[in-house]
Amino acid sequence: MLQEMKLKGEKIAMLTAYDYSMANIIDNSGIDIILVGDSAANVMAGHKTTLPITLNEMIYHASSVMRAVERALVVVDLPFGTYQGNSREALNSAIRIMKESNANAVKLEGGREIKESIDRILSAGIPVMGHLGLTPQSINKFGTYVVRAKEEEEAQRLREDARLLEEVGCFAVVLEKIPSALATEVTESIKIPTIGIGAGSGVDGQVLVIHDMLGINHDFSPRFLRRYHNLYDEMKGAVEMYIKDVKSLDFPNEREQY
Ligand code: KIV
Repeated sequence: MLQEMKLKGEKIAMLTAYDYSMANIIDNSGIDIILVGDSAANVMAGHKTTLPITLNEMIYHASSVMRAVERALVVVDLPFGTYQGNSREALNSAIRIMKESNANAVKLEGGREIKESIDRILSAGIPVMGHLGLTPQSINKFGTYVVRAKEEEEAQRLREDARLLEEVGCFAVVLEKIPSALATEVTESIKIPTIGIGAGSGVDGQVLVIHDMLGINHDFSPRFLRRYHNLYDEMKGAVEMYIKDVKSLDFPNEREQY
């Protein structure tokens, strides 16, 4: 289906979700793909990086999402430390996610350095989405979340890694925070769909973190983010009204009691 969308030029819409209620809203809105991202470490658990989230925690989020989803494809991030450098462990991690959450696919960050892990997961019949460009699980290697692959050497490596991910059998690849000209070039050079975040409009689809696009996260405003709502202020306003109503004895009124 995603392949056909790429061929027809129909853009793919992907958003993150980490819990039942949000997944229910997003799925019923007609989204194509729901990503149970390891960004849950940031927006759900308040960690500064995505590194601390565990496999058990990802499975908890993924199974909560799966209980709500009836139509979208659900992809789950393999968390940091569960697939790098050990393809057997990678396969075990992917199998646990598929078995215990019932999700449809997994996502791994990286290119040639994790090829063996991707190969092994694919050989078990588990669909894999790649992730290149800014890979937040490598924050301690790069030390910053700035735009990646601006220099030719890194851009060339990314082009090669995208082709490699296509060759080994990934069904799609996320391109995060890279120059839009490079993302467009990569998109045109491979047959599998590219899903961009901060990668411009020449990709096959877009992904955003749901808390960012709804404005729940009000102190995160990178240039690539479009905010569709200001839920932080709306929710805070509603909670303030509730507190006022409780304190002033306005709530509950006669119709709100038995
Ligand atoms: O974890 C996540 O939310 C992601 C997206 C930003 C692509 O990997």
